[in-house]
Amino acid sequence: MTAADGQKWTAVRIRQLKGRGRISCLTAYDYFTARRLDAAGIQIALVGDSLGMVVLGYETTLPVTMEDMLHHTAAVARGVRTAMVVADMPFLSYQVSVEQGINNAGRFLKEAGADAVKIEGGRIRADLVEALTANGIPVMGHIGLTPQSVHLFGGYRVQGRGAEAEEWLIDDARALEAAGVFAIVLECIPAVLGGKVTAAVSVPTIGIGAGPECDGQVLVSHDLLGLTGDFKPRFVKRYAELGGEMERAFRAFREDVETGRFPGEEHSYPS
Ligand code: KIV
Repeated sequence: MTAADGQKWTAVRIRQLKGRGRISCLTAYDYFTARRLDAAGIQIALVGDSLGMVVLGYETTLPVTMEDMLHHTAAVARGVRTAMVVADMPFLSYQVSVEQGINNAGRFLKEAGADAVKIEGGRIRADLVEALTANGIPVMGHIGLTPQSVHLFGGYRVQGRGAEAEEWLIDDARALEAAGVFAIVLECIPAVLGGKVTAAVSVPTIGIGAGPECDGQVLVSHDLLGLTGDFKPRFVKRYAELGGEMERAFRAFREDVETGRFPGEEHSYPS
């Protein structure tokens, strides 16, 4: 089972990778990024609610709406062939009641072409995860630093430090596993704890700032591509510096327009 076998990645196939192969997941919010990510053999295209910060310019993920997420999920779904599309459920789209959670999660599959949804929270989400999976909606869990709880945490801080917090997080992961998630994102926790959670559950863990022992890794594409300026948390590895390159190209265009170098004859239609 490789990224290059041409088959669509599904919740079942991702789950089967536990202990057999590493999972690569990147965020995508638009059609062309989704196409590139898919062509690169990335197994999961996550339409993260990080959309709020890297695309819409909000300070946190909290203002992101269902309509924002549906719109961008549909664009990503149109761009992939083999990558699995996981849509992040935005703040307050699933916390109020299980019924509302099912309705909103269903919209991602029905209206936007997602293959699964992601929700934040551990044992508190067990009932919802059970209800979603019982109704045919695959769920990815997300524990550790869950950005929708940023105000509760008092900022974007490493979670799971200390014996009690470790135990709490491992129990959360087990509760999600028992409820039926096909994978669990672990965000911003000590690397050793990332390893412990990974060993404690039979579903793959996908880490972001959770160390090398997770079964997979996820990054926000804008961070990896160097589009986010000076924002570079410890867990980010930059694979390109496209922010600078973009600015250079925009400046060159402006200079060409100002000096009349663009458009040239080759860009103009003969009569
Ligand atoms: O919203 C997002 O991009 C995420 C990832 C960072 C896991 O939840």
